[in-house]
Amino acid sequence: METVLVTGGAGFIGSNTVKALLQKGYRVLCLDNFADDLYDPKYKEGYVAELSSHENFVLYRADICDFEAVKEIFQKEKISYVIHLAAKANTRKAVGEPHSYVEVNIGGTINILELAKEFNVLNTVIASSSSVYGNSDRMPWKEDDIADRPLSPYGMTKRSDEVLAYTYHHNFKLNITCLRYFNAYGENNRPDLVPYIWGMAILKGGEIEISGDGSRKRDYTYIGDIVDGTIRAMEKPLGFEIINLGNNQPTSLKELVGVFERVTDFEVKVKSRPSHTSSVESTYADITKAKELLGWKPTTSIEEGITKLVNWLRDNRLKEAL
Ligand SMILES: NC(=O)c1ccc[n+]([C@@H]2O[C@H](COP(=O)([O-])OP(=O)(O)OC[C@H]3O[C@@H](n4cnc5c(N)ncnc54)[C@H](O)[C@@H]3O)[C@@H](O)[C@H]2O)c1
Repeated sequence: METVLVTGGAGFIGSNTVKALLQKGYRVLCLDNFADDLYDPKYKEGYVAELSSHENFVLYRADICDFEAVKEIFQKEKISYVIHLAAKANTRKAVGEPHSYVEVNIGGTINILELAKEFNVLNTVIASSSSVYGNSDRMPWKEDDIADRPLSPYGMTKRSDEVLAYTYHHNFKLNITCLRYFNAYGENNRPDLVPYIWGMAILKGGEIEISGDGSRKRDYTYIGDIVDGTIRAMEKPLGFEIINLGNNQPTSLKELVGVFERVTDFEVKVKSRPSHTSSVESTYADITKAKELLGWKPTTSIEEGITKLVNWLRDNRLKEAL
């Protein structure tokens, strides 16, 4: 049985990835510090509690910035694959607290790469982000587009991780795939993201805030598709690659309101608010490379995905909020 280390395994993408890996028969080490202040750690504790009944699940409470603590895990275990998702993940917050974003997202990633090198990990997948593209208007975004104008220090850290990872491939022949995730949403959704905030407001009968005139588009990608692409990337060492994982079908904020109205059968009350300087106009993934190299394409429409999100919010979050 092969062992996979998932950093940030108690988070949104992490908990879904860990669950899918366990279902596929892997032994999974979930590493998380539960201390990141982006949202209430009780949610992460809840995800981990669900997973802990599985015999092949092991939890490590550790900080990726603590090299010795993470090294102990590598010494104790025989890790075949690493899926490195642990990071500080909010674009806007990063503008106000760049030091901690650099420390965790770049400093933590160096630690993971050093240990992947030292312990001969077969393949490492690193979470990058569509935010590396900044406000590029050459749509859809391709992996070889210039990506040196992110709008937030967060995007800068993700681009830096990609560049850093390349040096480990070049000097030590490590297999590393950096995945540029586009606007993930679905079960265990992060509470700071629009689909969650809107879903909760709508289910409670409240009003939602829409930035600008609602024409901004996001390439919302269902979590099941994100997880599928992540595991495909892990199972297929490619030397060094950067690959977009996005829905390839951007939805405007106005259209997203319509999707929520159809799915919930509620009429949505909308209030406009100014947009943040670090928010890009649109995101739109070219996914030719993911199709060619990973045999991956998204299979969940925005209507299906938002239905799943709304059902999950109703079953898990609505009661506690009322
Ligand atoms: N959600 C998206 O749409 C999206 C889009 C692009 C990229 N990403 C990237 O995907 C990854 C996962 O994002 P997510 O949405 O699941 O966010 P998340 O905040 O739910 O998950 C990140 C996890 O990392 C953990 N973590 C943070 N700092 C840590 C540290 N120092 N040591 C150990 N663990 C630490 C957190 O506790 C959290 O559980 C991140 O790298 C993020 O930048 C996410």
